[in-house]
Amino acid sequence: MVLNHDQVMAALRTVKDPELHKDLVSLNMVKDVKVAANRVDVHVELTTPACPLKATIQKDVEQAVKRIGAAEVRVRFSAATRGPEQPKEVLPQVKNVIAVGAGKGGVGKSTVAVNLAVGLARHGAAVGLMDGDIYGPSMPTMLGIKGQLPGMRGNKLVPHFVHGIHAVTIGSLVEEDKPLIWRGPMAHGAFKQLLVDNTEWPALDYLVVDLPPGTGDVPLTLCQLLPLTGAVIVATPQQVALDDCIRAAHMFQQLEVPVLGIVENMSYYVDPATGVEHDLFGRGGAEQAAQRLGLAFLGAIPMYPDLRINSDAGTPLANFDEEKNAKLKGVLEAVVQNLAAQVSIRNLRPRGVKLNIV
Ligand SMILES: Nc1ncnc2c1ncn2[C@@H]1O[C@H](COP(=O)(O)OP(=O)(O)OP(=O)(O)O)[C@@H](O)[C@H]1O
Ligand SMILES: [Mg+2]
Repeated sequence: MVLNHDQVMAALRTVKDPELHKDLVSLNMVKDVKVAANRVDVHVELTTPACPLKATIQKDVEQAVKRIGAAEVRVRFSAATRGPEQPKEVLPQVKNVIAVGAGKGGVGKSTVAVNLAVGLARHGAAVGLMDGDIYGPSMPTMLGIKGQLPGMRGNKLVPHFVHGIHAVTIGSLVEEDKPLIWRGPMAHGAFKQLLVDNTEWPALDYLVVDLPPGTGDVPLTLCQLLPLTGAVIVATPQQVALDDCIRAAHMFQQLEVPVLGIVENMSYYVDPATGVEHDLFGRGGAEQAAQRLGLAFLGAIPMYPDLRINSDAGTPLANFDEEKNAKLKGVLEAVVQNLAAQVSIRNLRPRGVKLNIV
């Protein structure tokens, strides 16, 4: 039997993206189909280069096309990150702006923000990182750009390009060790001028924004100012951190910012000598909170001395080194891919979905 193009397209209509719950043809992910005798070539365009379901989609496409009689099926993948459908006035060249934070101080928001940004870029996405913490900017240290000024083009700042990402931090523009005292309205104006109007952000698939701690004026202002696809909440598993996490979820809900998911950080400690996992703070607490709130759980990151060491040294890519840090790489990679999937899911959904917050 000789197959034709229409038969293959009909077969592909039976293949659903397991997370987007629609078929590949309706999702406009089938970019090309070539039929030569009994061999079929299919070009599938993923909605993110960090897609965790590539292998599943490949298997499902092969099965569906073989079922209608193809002897050989070759699937080629490419990726084009999708953004929200509605056009943006602020940062129109950025497909997805993602805020990380709003949790308690010191739970690892900046650490998660950096590793998400670097992790997405490793998959080939164009990624930016905006340090939104005007009071205690961590990025100069975490990215190893302390004391380095960003470039200028005309009267605009050009973000640093480090570890595969474009980054801007107020920390590299002010004197070291001098606290910045900005109050709400001033912070709003300064943020907008500095990080949005006067920074030449390139075209980006994802711009990750590291928020300052808490749910006060500054994080609130930033979330209102930026056209967010959504937010990631970071929490450690103790009850006090979870209470903050719920407050943060409420803040985002009030601002109509979708919560893309919760990351549990410092989830447990792995003894480097024995490999035994010690549960210090009540592992699983953030996952349970996510479930209760009806939010996605993006993953658990253990206490990992190398994560702190690489943050202090400004070498985030070392966290993804398969030889030195296979376990850490694995947990970070899961969080990166789960976030990318949630962004794709969110971009297909209307805004304003209610949380189950009680
Ligand atoms: N999973 C982890 N394992 C080991 N160290 C970690 C881990 N997560 C964060 N740290 C370390 O904990 C410290 C605090 O982390 P980080 O600065 O990311 O927190 P934060 O929530 O951004 O803090 P702030 O509220 O001050 O902005 C840093 O020294 C960081 O390297
Ligand atoms: Mg921080």
